[in-house]
Amino acid sequence: MAPLTVDLQQSSEAASGSRQVGRETSPPTLLYLSQSDLVGLGAESSREYVDAVTEGLVLHARHKTVQPLKPYLRWPDAPHIADRIIAMPCYLGGERPVAGIKWVGSREANPRERGLPRASALIVLNDAYSNYPVAVMEGALISGMRTAAVTAVAAKHLAAPGFSSVACIGCGPIARMQLMTLLEQFPTIAQIHLYDFDTAAAETMKGNLEALRPGLRCTVSPDAREAVGEGELVVTCTTTDKPYIEYDWLRPGAFVSNVSIMDLHKEVYERADKVVVDDWEQSNREKKIIHQLVLEGRFSREKLHAELGQLLLGSRPGREGPDEIILLNAMGMAVDDLVCARRFYEMAVERSAGTKLPLF
Ligand SMILES: NC(=O)c1ccc[n+]([C@@H]2O[C@H](COP(=O)([O-])OP(=O)(O)OC[C@H]3O[C@@H](n4cnc5c(N)ncnc54)[C@H](O)[C@@H]3O)[C@@H](O)[C@H]2O)c1
Repeated sequence: MAPLTVDLQQSSEAASGSRQVGRETSPPTLLYLSQSDLVGLGAESSREYVDAVTEGLVLHARHKTVQPLKPYLRWPDAPHIADRIIAMPCYLGGERPVAGIKWVGSREANPRERGLPRASALIVLNDAYSNYPVAVMEGALISGMRTAAVTAVAAKHLAAPGFSSVACIGCGPIARMQLMTLLEQFPTIAQIHLYDFDTAAAETMKGNLEALRPGLRCTVSPDAREAVGEGELVVTCTTTDKPYIEYDWLRPGAFVSNVSIMDLHKEVYERADKVVVDDWEQSNREKKIIHQLVLEGRFSREKLHAELGQLLLGSRPGREGPDEIILLNAMGMAVDDLVCARRFYEMAVERSAGTKLPLF
């Protein structure tokens, strides 16, 4: 693998104070990777993400990461909960250290008013020795696919073994990536139950999935309750700010990946057999649902079953019984984004993909 540095000689010169901007024989460059560059590297398939996210979660569990709480930038004419730009920085230690940031914008009305996806993103990777930026890449694909990989990695530990039915609430791009990843990673899936309050979105998803996987049975449910009740694995991919899923809707043995975070009533957190998060600090920060529960005395660090990385390390158990109802509340970590971005950067360097841009 190529080192995550532009030019080691420059790094050592910089460290000794002799580096002079503009006089380098090989000035630092940036590698730019568009979404189509990433697709050319295999970024539409779940395999690289599942491996990379596993690596990132293990590094995180071993405290080899630095990940400040992410600031949410909002302004007054953007009233929806999904109207914001989030800055997500982190450092990944270990054998191939790297730092960087995902800068992810979202406007709930983009699909409706602009014909654009809700979310857009850029990822910047920095060499962890010189701290120089080495790559900039389109980030929405990586962001969506890593989110799906988190569900898949968690499902290996928390879903019923051999599960065959999935319920998906919300049928936008994030749902598509969740379902494609689950189908790639779990060949036992035979039925998918879809619900979206935009019925056309659910019908389009049904058509696409059935074309992709002949023999797969997809159903568009008349309401969220019916879909949720069918799912051994339930995944939420809406933009709601109002909880609507009740504990009693879930079937015994269900695993819920609460991707869109706001969909579950608080009682689900209280009554689930196990609640797992990706990172306790990110989940228990101001205004988030777990923090509200903590303030109300209804949840605590002690009641949390595990952080996801602990399951991968084996320091906490996954599913222990067929009827357990298990909830994953993964807020989404910069670690997930950066570990995947590093993987595609390394592949791009190896294959001379992307566009080199001068930094100066
Ligand atoms: N946890 C994470 O790491 C993570 C990462 C990325 C995205 N997300 C979240 O995933 C969600 C979906 O993203 P997207 O880009 O697909 O959004 P999108 O707006 O493109 O699609 C959302 C879909 O859900 C439907 N919907 C909205 N509210 C609904 C409701 N209450 N009931 C049924 N259907 C409903 C909409 O009609 C739409 O089809 C967002 O909330 C986003 O914040 C989470």
